[in-house]
Amino acid sequence: MLRELFLTLSHSKSARSFITGVTVARRVSSRFVAGITIADEIKAMRELNRRGMKVTADHLGENVSTEADATRAADDYIQLLDAIASDGVSSHVSLKLTQFGLDLGNGVCFANLRRVLDRAKAIGTFVRVDMESTDYTERTLTLVRAAKDTGCDNVGTVIQSYLYRSEADIAALIEDGIRVRLCKGAYKEPPDKAFPNKKNVDANFVKLSHMLLAAAKQKPDLYPAIASHDEKMVAAAREYASSNGVPRSNFEFQMLYGIRRELQDSLLAEGYNVRVYVPYGAEWYPYFMRRLAERPANLWFFVSNLVKG
Ligand code: FDA
Repeated sequence: MLRELFLTLSHSKSARSFITGVTVARRVSSRFVAGITIADEIKAMRELNRRGMKVTADHLGENVSTEADATRAADDYIQLLDAIASDGVSSHVSLKLTQFGLDLGNGVCFANLRRVLDRAKAIGTFVRVDMESTDYTERTLTLVRAAKDTGCDNVGTVIQSYLYRSEADIAALIEDGIRVRLCKGAYKEPPDKAFPNKKNVDANFVKLSHMLLAAAKQKPDLYPAIASHDEKMVAAAREYASSNGVPRSNFEFQMLYGIRRELQDSLLAEGYNVRVYVPYGAEWYPYFMRRLAERPANLWFFVSNLVKG
């Protein structure tokens, strides 16, 4: 119920203008967002690198409605990549295709994606195309494949275990040699497309993580990312890997900035690869709403700060 409410609010312009104007909201969101500028982002990533964490940088933004905004979003990523290279931070980048103009057509979006992929390749960095709602699943996979087919070997994408289609998508991506990040899924989806029940989403996550790990044992380049803060999902992946001889170097765990830091640290201390997804930028509102939707305790933290504020 609360999840639905926050996912609906994430699209509301009036809620956005109200909440982004509240100082306390900006303060609470900073638990999940590294800051507003590239300098803030580089500082947060450098600190994580220093502790042995891998990182992926996300410049927040989605669903642009003009070509100029889509071009600017890609320019911002190129600036980010230049800063990663010049400041010597070790980082991948993660991006959303609706930020690069997917709502305006595949052509506009692909041109922007290619510019970023080419720049990333020039500095030896990998680009993860995040997965958005099911309005975009098919086109996201099409554009990621088109990038791979036209010589970009530094691109991968994300599959969500709440979708019925995901098992078939993972099998095809393994076949195509495209790297996958597996997550549960963060959008509001209808019951004809996604499991409405958390138990089924979790069971599918375990099943899909095993598929990815089995493939990575044979082909280390597939290097899947198991992205969850759920200890049961993490344990299932660890157990599968150790009982089936999948080397720890062939996969990584991923978690979001500011969430389950103790789990991130303990996995790292045990010798697993851990990558933290570090978002930054002024467009933090929908990202923040999705984090509130995932965990009611975040809402109480927000409300108690609001009351104190
Ligand atoms: P679940 O929601 O069951 O939570 C398990 C436990 O984790 C909770 O009990 C709590 O302890 C902790 N936790 C989870 N979320 C929390 C939060 N917001 N605040 C505090 N604690 C929290 N989704 C998507 O649709 N497309 C994408 O491209 C991505 N990309 C992505 C990258 C990375 C690195 C991660 C970790 C996640 C994503 N996601 C995503 C989000 C993902 O789909 C999912 O919504 C969240 O990860 C929450 O699901 P969990 O697997 O953590 O489990």
